[in-house]
Amino acid sequence: MTVGALFGQAAWDYDRTRRKLVPGFDRFYGAVLESIPFREEREIRVLDLGAGTGLLSAVVAGKFPRAQVTLVDLSVEMLRVARRRFSGEQSRFEFRTMDYARKPLPRTEGGYDLVVSALSVHHLTHGDKRELFEKVHDSLAGGGYFVNADQISGETPEEEDLYVEWWLRRVREAGVSEEDLAAALSRMRADRNATLGAQLLWLGEVGFEGIGCRYRDHRFAVYNGRKGYGNLENRKDDDG
Ligand SMILES: C[S@@+](CC[C@H](N)C(=O)[O-])C[C@H]1O[C@@H](n2cnc3c(N)ncnc32)[C@H](O)[C@@H]1O
Repeated sequence: MTVGALFGQAAWDYDRTRRKLVPGFDRFYGAVLESIPFREEREIRVLDLGAGTGLLSAVVAGKFPRAQVTLVDLSVEMLRVARRRFSGEQSRFEFRTMDYARKPLPRTEGGYDLVVSALSVHHLTHGDKRELFEKVHDSLAGGGYFVNADQISGETPEEEDLYVEWWLRRVREAGVSEEDLAAALSRMRADRNATLGAQLLWLGEVGFEGIGCRYRDHRFAVYNGRKGYGNLENRKDDDG
């Protein structure tokens, strides 16, 4: 089954199990906000890759009330839930059903200030991940940020085994049902996690600067990079 179909059939019930399936949920999504240096009142243009039902977009839009957010996802069903979530504020949100690995990323005049993603890029092959990072870099304005909150693989087989054991223990402690666990494990068959080290390296190779990792706990990491200002005259007064 394709990734789009896997999430399409899970869409209606996706949000209910998130806190149980993502150990450290608040710190994980919170670390995305901590990685964004813009002032809260700034009007930022945001692209959310693999936005799903809009969980991460909601977190970002909540902190930045003047943000304009474009949500991209393969799955019509996931985006349908996102549209419902944001139905009260339609002018701030735009929805694009597309495969961000195969198609050019949406464009906005002058480039995005922020590209974010959560728990999505790990579905791509490693080659496609690196290529995506290049497309993200191209889509950003000078001084723009990319923040990816995602799954990572262990650096060694032993570390990978530890991540598997840790995740199963944490989700069971959180009280996940066997049925929800089985559904998650089935979706996870489509995962292609890469090590954090490899992903940070690819960011550097495609031109990101100031690369950092704000959060790391076993399987989960939040890392970021910034696009430089090609020309100092284009620099905006942006940082908080
Ligand atoms: C685990 S969900 C995460 C959703 C949301 N970002 C969150 O944090 O809850 C992964 C999402 O990525 C989407 N996705 C995976 N690969 C994609 C691709 N190549 N293009 C667009 N969306 C993709 C899936 O359809 C799914 O909705």
